[in-house]
Amino acid sequence: METYRGHCLILPFPIQGHINPMLQFATRLQHQGTKITLVTTKFLFKTLQEASGSISVEAISDGYDEGVNGVAAGIYLAMFRKCGSETLTELILKLHDLGCPVDCIVYDAFLPWCLDVAKSLGLRGAVFFTQSCAVNNIYYHAHKGCLKLPLEETEVDIPGLPPLLASDLPSFISDYASYPAIYQLVVHDQMENIKEADWIFFNTFYKLEEEVNDWMAKILPVKTIGPAIPSMYLEKSLEDDKHYGPNLFKSMTKACMSWLNERSVSSVVYVAFGSLAELNAEQMEELAWGLRKSNYYFLWVVRESESNKLPKDFLEESSDKGLIISWSPQLEVLAHESMGCFITHCGWNSTLEALSLGVPIIPMPQWTDQSTNAKFVMDIWKTGIKALPDENGIVRRNVISQCISLVMDKKKGQEISQNAKKWKDLARQAFDEGGSSHANIRDFVSKLV
Ligand code: UDX
Repeated sequence: METYRGHCLILPFPIQGHINPMLQFATRLQHQGTKITLVTTKFLFKTLQEASGSISVEAISDGYDEGVNGVAAGIYLAMFRKCGSETLTELILKLHDLGCPVDCIVYDAFLPWCLDVAKSLGLRGAVFFTQSCAVNNIYYHAHKGCLKLPLEETEVDIPGLPPLLASDLPSFISDYASYPAIYQLVVHDQMENIKEADWIFFNTFYKLEEEVNDWMAKILPVKTIGPAIPSMYLEKSLEDDKHYGPNLFKSMTKACMSWLNERSVSSVVYVAFGSLAELNAEQMEELAWGLRKSNYYFLWVVRESESNKLPKDFLEESSDKGLIISWSPQLEVLAHESMGCFITHCGWNSTLEALSLGVPIIPMPQWTDQSTNAKFVMDIWKTGIKALPDENGIVRRNVISQCISLVMDKKKGQEISQNAKKWKDLARQAFDEGGSSHANIRDFVSKLV
């Protein structure tokens, strides 16, 4: 152990959008000489072990070792807290007995009980927020009662943020009663003990959210460490760091990349809605015909569980223009020279990935933090045009094809392309020697032991 600069356990919430950034952060720490043990659930253990390269993986129990199916969120979270606390304690004691003691637990903000485990064993705890600084700030204000809920106004003013319409806020705030258990998690549980954490990390970069970051930094010692994507897509200082980590879905990498290789520069519309969002059948139909109508080449990720909603005949009718796959190697896709724009739900990872790779965005937010991310893409970072829904919440085919035409057009989309390039450069600079994220990571490691 003496050769390591500390030993960190990394504990992501077991879903794709949380494992990806936390594993990337772990890789950065490992390159600074820290020993890393990635801790996941027994159910995901094998998948993560196969994909985590030189990082060792251990398992704890969330109470559903054979997989979670149809369990209500509140019940799952309570069970994870109970079984997770017990088995995480056992794991830390085991590692200690094996001569591999732990210095710090870097835990997902969705697993706030990890801090209690750390403190009960005399360890330090670093909380990792996988969502944007703006979104964390909104939840923080709701938690403190400064943002009154249910909302009474149609527009809100929150320190550090531009004026936001109710529809720009995360769905758990704007649609207050929609998911009570997740509301409790994001607004209360993840904020409750934040002040006791030894470090607070946000997966964003300073320049991207300068104003809101400065505001939050006045009350909490927040540190930006993102974008948490492999070095080879950013500053390229870590030669072997190209791999994004485990896919919880089977990736159709070969078919996808060979199809892209046939396309010309900036000619393809890439469409993907992350790992969780479910579009209704009507929205799928509008999207399908909107893509067809645009007449651009498109690469569309439709997860297996969503594929029955594709309109009949669409595959046949669009095969000359489009490729539909069930999961893509998204970073490779976004980095490909054929990329023209990205129609996305604006999950925070997808948003950061597009910004970091300079790809113009057409936001189609679905729920959780995505409306807020979409608002920033369109009005603050100005790297895209939001596809607006009608009064029934459906984005119609004409709107989709118009947005595509605007963003893809060399002249009309010029400002967006220039902004996309600007954020790409700034994302890279965050990891250059002395850049904000680079410095924050280095500082953390220097204080670990
Ligand atoms: C969830 C939430 O929905 C999101 O809003 C929150 O910020 C994080 O957790 P998810 O919906 O899956 O995540 O979206 P996103 O944050 O974009 O993460 C998806 C990840 O899967 C990205 O890293 C993306 O690169 C990857 N992905 C997605 C693929 O590798 N292939 C695909 O085909 C689609």
